[in-house]
Amino acid sequence: MKRLIPFAMLLLSPTPVLAGANDPALWITIDSEAVKPVSEAFAREGWAAPTPYLEKHDVTLLPVYESQLERIAQVMHDRFNRCAGFVTYETFQEAMASLTPPDMPAAAELTVPSYTLDSATTVNKLIAVLAESNIRSTINTMSAYTTRYYTSTTGVSSANWLRTHWASLGAGRSDVTVELFNHAAWAQPSVILTIQGTTLPNQVVVVGGHLDSTSSGSTAPGADDNASGIASFTEVIRAAMAVGYRPARTVKFIGYAAEEVGLRGSKEIAAYFKNNGVDVVGVLQLDMTNYPSTRSDVKVGVVTDYTNAAQNTFLRNLITTYVGIKQANSTCGYACSDHASWYNQGFAASIPHEALVPEGNPYIHTVNDTIARSGSTANHALHFAKIAAAFVAELGEGSAP
Ligand code: BES
Ligand code: ZN
Repeated sequence: MKRLIPFAMLLLSPTPVLAGANDPALWITIDSEAVKPVSEAFAREGWAAPTPYLEKHDVTLLPVYESQLERIAQVMHDRFNRCAGFVTYETFQEAMASLTPPDMPAAAELTVPSYTLDSATTVNKLIAVLAESNIRSTINTMSAYTTRYYTSTTGVSSANWLRTHWASLGAGRSDVTVELFNHAAWAQPSVILTIQGTTLPNQVVVVGGHLDSTSSGSTAPGADDNASGIASFTEVIRAAMAVGYRPARTVKFIGYAAEEVGLRGSKEIAAYFKNNGVDVVGVLQLDMTNYPSTRSDVKVGVVTDYTNAAQNTFLRNLITTYVGIKQANSTCGYACSDHASWYNQGFAASIPHEALVPEGNPYIHTVNDTIARSGSTANHALHFAKIAAAFVAELGEGSAP
């Protein structure tokens, strides 16, 4: 660790020096090579350069203000072709903890589930009722919001729409609840649908993806990033209700707020689960599922960084056994989506991606992230609904009559 200011001073300075009342002071971790261009951009705005607190593994810890996040994202996009490329923390302690992620994935009290495939009947019942048209419809509804940006009114409305839609899918099942997870620091809530487990209710399987969107232009349709992920597992919820699936373990489907601004929604949720001692046995993240690569025949990229190796092997078996499409390992190289929030809290997380990471959708974070760029179908996302259905049934156990 290269200390840029004396360690004693660092302990004495747990918040940025210029904290303002309506503009919360935050911490970000960012590629060290981005510090100079960010400082230059700040100078052009007439802002003081952020003072680096420390540098570790080429990542620098910087104090900034919430109002500066968009400008930083712009620099990352323009200079590094990255779609944010930094992670936001509300406290100095959290930011410091992120620089020493756990090497040992599972905490002692977490259940490590069996990864043996023993629920083929249930998986195949679910897969049989999955329909591309429903996935397409959810993508169209979500991407019709002008933006789902975490501070926007339409960002809030889109989360509320998802809550209402999931509630309608779960209507008539007393073991299914839908709730909002409110975040103190911004308006957009996360949304959680829970199917209470029958025999192992204290063990929890999570399937999630972010519901917010962002864009450099005047609209942020986020059809692929990430209406597609939300739509893929929303169809699994519908299928589970249609076949009367009752899991032995509790299954939670989560639409995360505020991913695009540093994984903020999922960070709070994963910390909440951790702090409350919830036995999360496995987490599946779906982020970008509907843009098939035009460059290679790989249909699924299994991301191997910030994820759990044993669960990734299980995921690859699910894809081979139940979906039968070509897959390969891939890496983001940084904490690119909400799976990293769970990973950083010591939970087993995996993320199957629409392609090898470098071959994914080039239109994300622009006005052109529309379903038209995927041929106006959800054919590719249907593969990911199958993957999520298999994950839920095999880890959730239980049965469908
Ligand atoms: N969907 C992307 C992540 C992604 C992009 C995964 C390309 C795989 C391939 C996500 O919404 C995103 O934009 N993440 C940010 C980082 C986050 C910490 C703000 C990014 O990739 O820059
Ligand atoms: Zn994104």
